[in-house]
Amino acid sequence: MRVRKAVITAAGWGTRFLPATKSQPKEMLPLVDKPMIQYIVEEAVASGIELIVVVTSLWKGTLEDHFDRSRELESFLEEKGNLELREEVGRISQLADICYIRQKEQLGLGHAILAAKLMVGEEPFAVFLPDDIIVGAVPAMKQMLEVHGRYGGSLLAIRRVEREQIGRFGIIDPERVAEGVYRVRNLVEKPDPERAPSNLGVVGRYVLSPSIFPALEKTLPGKGGEIQLTDGLATLLATEEVFGYEFQGTWLDAGTPLSLLKASVSLALGRPDMEEEMRHFLKELLR
Ligand code: G1P
Repeated sequence: MRVRKAVITAAGWGTRFLPATKSQPKEMLPLVDKPMIQYIVEEAVASGIELIVVVTSLWKGTLEDHFDRSRELESFLEEKGNLELREEVGRISQLADICYIRQKEQLGLGHAILAAKLMVGEEPFAVFLPDDIIVGAVPAMKQMLEVHGRYGGSLLAIRRVEREQIGRFGIIDPERVAEGVYRVRNLVEKPDPERAPSNLGVVGRYVLSPSIFPALEKTLPGKGGEIQLTDGLATLLATEEVFGYEFQGTWLDAGTPLSLLKASVSLALGRPDMEEEMRHFLKELLR
């Protein structure tokens, strides 16, 4: 079955970014000149997704405004003769059909995904976590949809992570089925490195079977007292197959202030209009 819908979870408080996130959503923080969430929406659209469900919460109104049309701004830019920016601002409002649903309590990633249940319905769907920005020649989700088309079930984006990073991710117990593709035998949320089943960590891209919803409804609070998607997936394993896929592309973690800064610098170094000056700046700074 073709995957048409995507869920983007954007309901967290962004506590790691306070005070920057006191009155603005974390997902609106920029990497260079684009808010995190725009990278995600662009990846979804470039992967063929037709409808995006964004799970938001209180104080997240500017997320909706960002993807809305602003005729005032467009006219202003037109009057100023800045047609390139006018184009860009207009393009953002036409990127995708997006609907929004609010998670009323921050009870975890699994709980946030459950909020989208009725909008998703009985079909497989994509999930994007905006903390994980992935850039590359072929959008990560496009690669995943292709793999999902071959194997079915549910599919998790995975990457090898450093031992000291294991406790930050969902970790799979893998059985290799093809180059870069693993059958998931089990998965654990943020294990101690000594007890982790592997060093293959789950990155924020999933293609999920709709059976995840009843599995999540049965899931009790786990790590950190939250309803974890990882635990819902572990339940799902009893009845359906789950796979992991080592996607191609550069994975930029935007989940902490320092990693966001590093991600911004890497992206600026890849931009023809910024590369030279950025290199010069870094060289001078570190002299
Ligand atoms: C979430 C998931 C975790 C996954 C990670 C990827 O954790 O719970 O399994 O590995 O995203 O970024 P979070 O980073 O929201 O704590």
